[in-house]
Amino acid sequence: MREQKPSRLHDVQLRNLRAADLEVFWNLGSCNYNVVRWLTGAPWPPQRSNAEDFFSQLSSAPYPLAPIRRAITVDGAFAGTIELALPGDLDDLPQLPTLGYWLGEPFWGKGFASRAVRLILQQAFAIEGVGTVAARAFQDNAGSLNVLSKTGFKIVGACERYSKARGETVACHILIVTHDDFLETIGS
Ligand SMILES: CC(C)(COP(=O)(O)OP(=O)(O)OC[C@H]1O[C@@H](n2cnc3c(N)ncnc32)[C@H](O)[C@@H]1OP(=O)(O)O)[C@@H](O)C(=O)NCCC(=O)NCCS
Repeated sequence: MREQKPSRLHDVQLRNLRAADLEVFWNLGSCNYNVVRWLTGAPWPPQRSNAEDFFSQLSSAPYPLAPIRRAITVDGAFAGTIELALPGDLDDLPQLPTLGYWLGEPFWGKGFASRAVRLILQQAFAIEGVGTVAARAFQDNAGSLNVLSKTGFKIVGACERYSKARGETVACHILIVTHDDFLETIGS
């Protein structure tokens, strides 16, 4: 029977991405349509060059010289990635950094994404000048919308984005979270 330990018994952390993560990133993320169908930039069928490009763009420069890109680890194992992208992703909110993330399918449904989002928001709000963070999610992505709601995000608008994997334009919600809303929601 599949393990169903409560997520608090697992150790969820963020760490820097490294070149050695490429293989598991490729297998767990790029090669699973159930993951990439919810993203905009990942192609289907998977293209190795796309994953290699992602790793070749990693930078050790601090935000806002570079985005914050982290591996999500569960009990030390690579489980997915999370990113605070530089402002400019959203036409209507060009001043806000944007959150993005994915977890490998074996890690779904155990609270890990919610914990990873909390961790990166704690890091983001510790940066001077970051008082609000934005996110974008396909309107039919119930899982991601739940994760965002649980960390204080509220829907403030809509947009359309082309999904490379789906090969079509998809309706998205635009969401934001302020530092105050984040603290209130997580009960700090
Ligand atoms: C979306 C995703 C990150 C969720 O990760 P996760 O670790 O399973 O999320 P959590 O366990 O923290 O779930 C948070 C809440 O959402 C609910 N949830 C998770 N997946 C769900 C789904 N597919 N449908 C409905 N609710 C879902 C959980 O039950 C939980 O609710 P609860 O706290 O009331 O029990 C993961 O499914 C994923 O990586 N999907 C593919 C990529 C993706 O969608 N990225 C985000 C793009 S915006």
